[in-house]
Amino acid sequence: MSKHVLGILCSGRGSNMQSILAAIDAGQINAQVGVVLTDKPEAKALAYAQSVGIRSVCVNRKECASQQEFEEKLVAELKEAGVTLVILAGFMRILSPYFVGEYPHKILNIHPSLLPSFGGAHAHRDVLAYGTKVSGCTIHFVDEHMDHGPIILQDTVPVMDDDTEETLAARVLQKEHILYPRAIQLYVDGKLELLDDRHVRIKQ
Ligand code: GRF
Repeated sequence: MSKHVLGILCSGRGSNMQSILAAIDAGQINAQVGVVLTDKPEAKALAYAQSVGIRSVCVNRKECASQQEFEEKLVAELKEAGVTLVILAGFMRILSPYFVGEYPHKILNIHPSLLPSFGGAHAHRDVLAYGTKVSGCTIHFVDEHMDHGPIILQDTVPVMDDDTEETLAARVLQKEHILYPRAIQLYVDGKLELLDDRHVRIKQ
């Protein structure tokens, strides 16, 4: 059994979470999932994790009096589950320096654009409005700033003339489902070397 325990945070559908669970089942990631956390009770990710017997908890942001209380509850769940690596997989909440400080260089995020371009909640819409010819996805370490920390992996897709947000999102998502498990595998295998606050070297 790997020493690494993942805590996966989701807000919605959870397709990236499912790709990570599939990669663990297939033996491609040497880790276990300690807990799946959502900020909304209706998140499909929550129901799915429950259905496959993974500990899953909703920390309902709307029932917390403050962001601090919300994050303290998340951290308590992660600690309780013995989490060593936090995976943000479609988690649509900004986390404060308090949360990041609890897991320094131990939080990964996926973003559906080629950062530093098109950060924020509407990446595909912004890509189409700007008219870039390529887009893609980015896996990065989380720091105190949104969609900002050191980049681990990126991959690209073409943007087609007739793309809608939905068709572009679907093309990018296929790449996401390959890239996130690969980045987690590199992390748990100890192959990611953080050189400074921007640069990640992948050891061979
Ligand atoms: C993904 O496109 C991810 O990059 C973005 O939100 C979406 C979540 O999708 N942050 P899912 O919940 O993993 O299906």
